Order: sequence, then structure tokens, then C-alpha cells
Amino acid sequence: MTLPTSTVPLDSDERLLQRAMLAASAAGELLLARPADLVVESKSSATDAVTAMDRASEDLLVRMLLADGATDAVLGEEGGERAGSSGVRWVLDPLDGTVNYLYGLPEWAVSVAAQRQGRTVAGVVAAPLLQRRWWAVAGGGAWTALGDDEPRRLQVGGERRLGHALTGTGFGYAADRRGRQGELLARVIAELRDVRRIGSAAIDLCYVAGGEFDAYFEQGLHEWDSAAAALIVAEAGGAVEVLADWEPDGSALTAAANPDLLRELRALLVAAQSSRRSSLG
Ligand code: IPD
Repeated sequence: MTLPTSTVPLDSDERLLQRAMLAASAAGELLLARPADLVVESKSSATDAVTAMDRASEDLLVRMLLADGATDAVLGEEGGERAGSSGVRWVLDPLDGTVNYLYGLPEWAVSVAAQRQGRTVAGVVAAPLLQRRWWAVAGGGAWTALGDDEPRRLQVGGERRLGHALTGTGFGYAADRRGRQGELLARVIAELRDVRRIGSAAIDLCYVAGGEFDAYFEQGLHEWDSAAAALIVAEAGGAVEVLADWEPDGSALTAAANPDLLRELRALLVAAQSSRRSSLG
């Protein structure tokens, strides 16, 4: 849980969490004021959208996090990497679930992670239309709140059987990658309870942290999609694994669940991927 600002040491991870929560909630407010004309441009593919609101949200996050002369480094989905000298690095997804936002679906979020020495020490995911926030600080557990309700501690689900595991996944923006992801999914779906595609990797991972999903996997996530939510999963007793070089393009596969289920899921995915590869010759 968060403490009143005055009781938290200035250089502590809790203070980083407080800064992250303030910035994420301001960015969420900004995004709620959705203009009629979203000014959409495409990025990596024709359907990989960035709106003026993604950029405005990131600008606000950076302005707030670097206020008072902070010299922290920043990696943002829209602004790239900026160097810093304080030892703190912020990893920002100003609008995770941009396509949902574009279509007026409620599953989108602002994700803010604070890292020290490459390790996430505090993170928040705020989904304003769902009125949900999830957050964690390293060693302090993971928490969620719905609207103004009292925060509730998160705990991953205890399911160990793949055949009973409700599993989230996601797809990339490039058509060829999506095709390969679909082939892999076709090879594993009958082994799982069922599959959900929410449209925000950060929310998918937070659902694992709270037990709404038993598991999640996706190929090709970016650091900003998962930095905050991976800490939230870990602090909720779950595990997140990144399998490097999953595809020849060098992209990794990210999977999350409770540690026992994750072992099963990894074995299933690795076997399915290798049989998919050998069928291609
Ligand atoms: C995307 C969402 C989506 C996932 C994609 C991500 P964006 O992030 O998290 O669920 O499947 O891989 O790129 O582009 O909306 O920030």
C-alpha cells in the first residue's frame, strides 16, 4: 500500500511508486478527455496506430516525472530512450491498448515503471475506463483498487492444470507475425481451458496477478508493454519468463502464470513451436 508522501524517504522505491501513481493518474485523466478527432498516424504497420493522445499522454508523464529537476533516464513508447544520471530509469507506455482506445473499447491503460540498475522496483498500471489501478513496489506486494474502494492485495491464481487454465494472449501489428502467432495458438488452444485476447498486454499481465487469468503468453512484447505489470505479477506470487529468440526475427516470447503452471505452459509452447518449425521444413 502507499504511504502519505511526508513519511516516505525522498530516494526510496515507495517515493518512486508515488511519483509513478500521480503521473499515471494525471495521464489517465488526460486520456479520458477523448477528442472526437483522434489524429491517427501509423507506425510499424498500417494498423499500428499512434494518436495525438498517445503523444500528449507521454509528454505529460515525462513532464511530471522529471519535474523538480529530476535527472532520471526515460524510455517511452513514443519518445524513445533519453539518458539520465540519477540511477533511476522510467519505462513508460503512455497508452497500452491504443487500438481499443481508438475503437472506444474500455481496455486501455497507462503503464509506468521505475527501474534501478535494470530492475523494476516500482510500477503502476492505470485503466481509467475500467476504474482499475494495479501497483507494486519491490518487496511490498502487489495491490489493486477499483474506483475509490479500499486497495486489495493481489495473489495469482493457484490453478496447475493447463486444461483448466484461462489464458490471455495477444498479437502483433505485422500481418506475417500475426499469422505465425495464430499458427502457434492453433497448436495449443485445445490444451487450455480457453483463450482471451483483451488488447492490452499490461492489463493481461495484471489479470494474471489478480487471478482473472491463470496464464498469459505473447510473442514480441516491448519493454514498455510489460515493465510495470511484470513486477505486479511477481509481487503477487507469480512468475514471468522471457524466452529469447523465439522467432528468427529475434523477438522473444513472454509468458506469465503461477510458477507451477508456468512450467507446464512453457513446455507446451516450446513443443508446439518446435513442431510448427519442423512442419515448415
Ligand atoms: C499493444 C497491446 C496489445 C499487444 C501488442 C502491444 P500498444 O500495445 O499491448 O495487447 O497484443 O503486442 O503492442 O501498441 O497498444 O501500446
